[in-house]
Amino acid sequence: MVLSMDRWMGKVAVVTGASSGIGAAIAETLVEQGLKVAALARRLDRMEALAQKLTNQKGKLYPIKTDLSKEEDILNAFKWIKENLGPIHILINNAAVCESATLVDGDTEMWRNVLEVNILAICIATREAVRDMRANNVDGHIIHINSIGGHQVPNFPKVNIYPATKFSVRALAETLRLEFISLKLKIKITNLSTGFVDTEMIPETIKIKLKQCFEEKQIIESENIADAVIYVLSTPPHVQIQELTVRSVDESFFKLICY
Ligand SMILES: NC(=O)c1ccc[n+]([C@@H]2O[C@H](COP(=O)([O-])OP(=O)(O)OC[C@H]3O[C@@H](n4cnc5c(N)ncnc54)[C@H](OP(=O)(O)O)[C@@H]3O)[C@@H](O)[C@H]2O)c1
Repeated sequence: MVLSMDRWMGKVAVVTGASSGIGAAIAETLVEQGLKVAALARRLDRMEALAQKLTNQKGKLYPIKTDLSKEEDILNAFKWIKENLGPIHILINNAAVCESATLVDGDTEMWRNVLEVNILAICIATREAVRDMRANNVDGHIIHINSIGGHQVPNFPKVNIYPATKFSVRALAETLRLEFISLKLKIKITNLSTGFVDTEMIPETIKIKLKQCFEEKQIIESENIADAVIYVLSTPPHVQIQELTVRSVDESFFKLICY
């Protein structure tokens, strides 16, 4: 199989949650590969700093301040992208939140926000991207950044509805794949699940425990996930990586942070 990013050169990619961690690394790598990348998140200053860092690359980063818990913000972002950058070819649904609380005494508004960012925003962004791809006859690619917590509920304290949202993301990916088949669309959908990655999402208390477990550097980093995205995108048009899980070789640290 010949892997190549050539067909995406100069095309438009949308990356949600591009202000930190995995999303920032994916956005950076896509810009290095020559794409026009629309970066969606709330922390505009972070994305502007990234855009500045990437000014000499083949592609370009376009920061768009977006609160993904607000449909109007998402719709405005997609409108701007279509009017200013051109047809959307790639959507990376990366943004998510994981709040520390329990199911037995958690807060409803907090749960609502997690549901809106982790599930509803993906549905809205995907609908908008697919509409644009269909209108422009683009055989694009959608990638949901998921978690190993979307395959098995982790035995960690206070994850509350996070694993439920990630199970949902996997179901959304499969439902979308089946819809594409029934509509005879050649758009690809990939569910890319990651193990622990050293990002702001991981609470400092857990990070400290994790880092104590490793004599050598073993926790995967955001750049490793960005490379996995490039691999998935580089496959020939008829080859679809439906599921991909990327995790550290050594996840023995799990036992240290369980209940
Ligand atoms: N880190 C891990 O170990 C791990 C493991 C499994 C899966 N994942 C998945 O990887 C993806 C990226 O997570 P990460 O680890 O890179 O976490 P992160 O560094 O905390 O990044 C989360 C991103 O989501 C954005 N976001 C959150 N709420 C938002 C909102 N209302 N509107 C717009 N953007 C919002 C944040 O941007 P703003 O705050 O600027 O809005 C940020 O850019 C997530 O889907 C996560 O579930 C991570």
